[in-house]
Amino acid sequence: MSKILVLPGDGIGQEIIAQTLKVIDYLNANHALNMTLVHGLVGGTAYDKTGSPLPQSTIDAAHQCDSILLGAVGGYQWETLKRDLRPERGLLSLRSEMDLFANLRPAILYPQLAKASTLKAEIVSGLDLIIVRELVSGIYFGQPRGIEMRNGQRYGFNSATYFESEIERIGHSAFQIAQKRNKRVCSVDKANVLEVCELWREVMVKIAKNYPDVELTHMYVDNAAMQLVKAPKQFDVIVTSNLFGDVLSDCAAMLTGSIGMLPSASVNQDGFGMYEPIHGSAPDIAGQNLANPLATILSLAMMLKYSLNQADFAEKITVAINDVLDQGYRTQDIASDDNKIVGTKEMGDLVVEALKN
Ligand code: IPM
Ligand code: MG
Repeated sequence: MSKILVLPGDGIGQEIIAQTLKVIDYLNANHALNMTLVHGLVGGTAYDKTGSPLPQSTIDAAHQCDSILLGAVGGYQWETLKRDLRPERGLLSLRSEMDLFANLRPAILYPQLAKASTLKAEIVSGLDLIIVRELVSGIYFGQPRGIEMRNGQRYGFNSATYFESEIERIGHSAFQIAQKRNKRVCSVDKANVLEVCELWREVMVKIAKNYPDVELTHMYVDNAAMQLVKAPKQFDVIVTSNLFGDVLSDCAAMLTGSIGMLPSASVNQDGFGMYEPIHGSAPDIAGQNLANPLATILSLAMMLKYSLNQADFAEKITVAINDVLDQGYRTQDIASDDNKIVGTKEMGDLVVEALKN
């Protein structure tokens, strides 16, 4: 039996999680999935109800669960709050609190969606890469940081910092993932300018010696951004720091047609993971039954595979989603001319229907 903390969060988070819960309910009732759910608050919704974007009750619940399923956080109404109270802070603190240092962001092009990509089909067809992003250090968390007065004017500053051990552990994760894939790691940095990246590169070279079966290459981040849109199929595993991973993963996601299709996992040393779609809370379409729930349902599949040792259920969900796409059903973000456009709820129902086959 597994115990999951469900955190819908803000904006479309509520709707997409609701569809994912339909899938869990169906598998619990009909296929002995044996998943117990605990419900909690995070983000702006948590702030409105408790005054904090990450209430202590959510942290306590996380420690008592096997994994977290998260929707998304953020929204216009909370943008003017003090930084520490903003929804994003809830997400970042949760990552840090659970030490979820390895963020896995696969970018896979579903053949049915080749037309939905803004890139030519021949550039993206068959695309299957994964970004391994360091998630609990780097410039996101480095000290000192702040905005203060210097020389009579405002001065803003952040620090890009990495301990060698932090680079080592994300390096090991990347190489181990590559061993199960095409055995190629591309480490992305800006070592031509930044000392922290010089260290990053040295440590990656050192770690690589433990994995003689995996090829290590290096790329500067500006070039990597260009290569991702020019020839994305050259990549197998990309390993990179927190900020570069944030930027490159949105870019990689778009290669696949829609950010609405991509799940992610953030895991710690013990295999505990937080699973969430790559996309954000999309307040502009929230509550309108327009959001694509598939990235969240695929995040559940990733959880079953990576944290709960139930790969058979993960496969079952993936097959069902492929089935729905094969039938031509699409939410608006992934639709082209000849598709049947459906809403968030209908897409959830279709996946449950397909699970019955
Ligand atoms: C992501 C998001 C977050 C990040 C935001 C919401 C804090 O963009 O998960 O990529 O920057 O890490
Ligand atoms: Mg991002």
